[in-house]
Amino acid sequence: MVKKIVGGIVGLTVVVGLPVFVYLLTNNKLSIGYNIGYEPTQPVPFSHKLHAGDNKIDCKYCHTNVGVSRNSAVPSLNICMNCHLSVAVGKPEIQKLQKNYAEGKSIPWIKVHMLPDHVKFNHSKHIMAGKECSTCHGPIEKMEKVYQYSDLSMGWCVNCHRGDPNYDPQLTAEEVKKYEGSDHSQAPINCSTCHY
Ligand code: HEC
Ligand code: HEC
Ligand code: HEC
Ligand code: HEC
Ligand code: HEC
Repeated sequence: MVKKIVGGIVGLTVVVGLPVFVYLLTNNKLSIGYNIGYEPTQPVPFSHKLHAGDNKIDCKYCHTNVGVSRNSAVPSLNICMNCHLSVAVGKPEIQKLQKNYAEGKSIPWIKVHMLPDHVKFNHSKHIMAGKECSTCHGPIEKMEKVYQYSDLSMGWCVNCHRGDPNYDPQLTAEEVKKYEGSDHSQAPINCSTCHY
């Protein structure tokens, strides 16, 4: 009796689970091999929810040159100290910031997003085209800890460039109609656009 029940459960899991697994795999939903969801623990427990969410500090107040540069897009301690020379000064994590600041040291933040070297990506083109940070990075202002929201695969880039609304929720119905099944796309899709 017990054996039968166990056997039934195992059988059912395989019968239902296998096709679901194959579906997820072939539709890129599992994104095996990509770092989707990567959420490293940072040297200081900096919270985007607290800063960008609750306190509504603008993304570009800290990520000043996200539009022009690949490096130093994460803020230096100068920017933190605009507030933390006077805000929450008694807290141990803030004293850690102040100590590093006084010694001229930076915080060794761990990079969350990382494209391979053979790919060129450029924030400014996307921001000039009106794309929101959240389209690619998700609800950062709700994250205690930043995690990688999109899989950053070639398919993700190319499908958005083609004008697929599943990959670009910002497209209007009119734009979707214009791009669908035509040679027009919202951004270039030739190899040299993204590869060296
Ligand atoms: C515009 C002002 C402002 C800036 C700029 C700012 N913070 Fe804050 N930060 C706050 C406020 C407000 C709080 C909440 C203070 C409290 O709860 O007493 C806070 C809290 C924190 C805390 C939590 C302290 C604790 O233990 O409760 C950490 C850690 C922190 N900030 C790190 C940083 C870092 C790192 C930077 C620079 C990348 C930064 N902050 C930039 C305003 C700012
Ligand atoms: C008070 C300063 C501050 C504000 C405001 C802020 N950030 Fe950040 N951001 C940081 C710091 C410091 C890090 C590095 C530590 C970490 O990853 O949490 C970071 C990391 C990131 C990363 C990950 C970078 C990587 O390593 O790949 C993304 C993406 C990001 N922020 C997007 C945003 C967006 C979008 C907003 C607005 C909704 C925003 N940030 C607002 C300070 C800030
Ligand atoms: C079209 C998608 C897209 C949009 C829109 C976008 N990002 Fe990014 N972001 C990326 C990708 C892809 C990377 C990884 C780049 C790399 O590894 O070279 C990245 C990396 C970052 C990083 C890590 C440092 C760096 O430059 O490598 C920060 C910080 C960041 N983004 C913040 C922002 C903020 C703030 C906004 C809005 C003002 C924004 N991003 C809009 C796709 C996007
Ligand atoms: C949410 C949609 C979206 C995603 C995702 C996206 N892009 Fe784009 N991309 C655009 C748009 C829109 C433009 C601007 C086209 C224009 O203004 O001509 C653009 C422009 C570019 C350009 C500049 C093209 C040129 O020559 O002017 C490069 C390079 C680029 N994207 C690379 C990438 C890479 C690499 C990725 C993935 C890591 C990516 N993009 C992901 C929408 C997207
Ligand atoms: C809109 C941007 C974009 C365009 C256009 C694009 N790629 Fe990519 N490609 C990427 C990104 C991002 C990656 C890295 C992520 C991945 O491997 O999926 C990649 C990865 C690759 C890889 C895998 C390399 C490896 O390490 O496994 C090959 C091969 C490749 N691309 C070839 C091409 C060719 C050929 C074309 C033209 C037909 C092309 N790509 C057009 C963005 C793009």
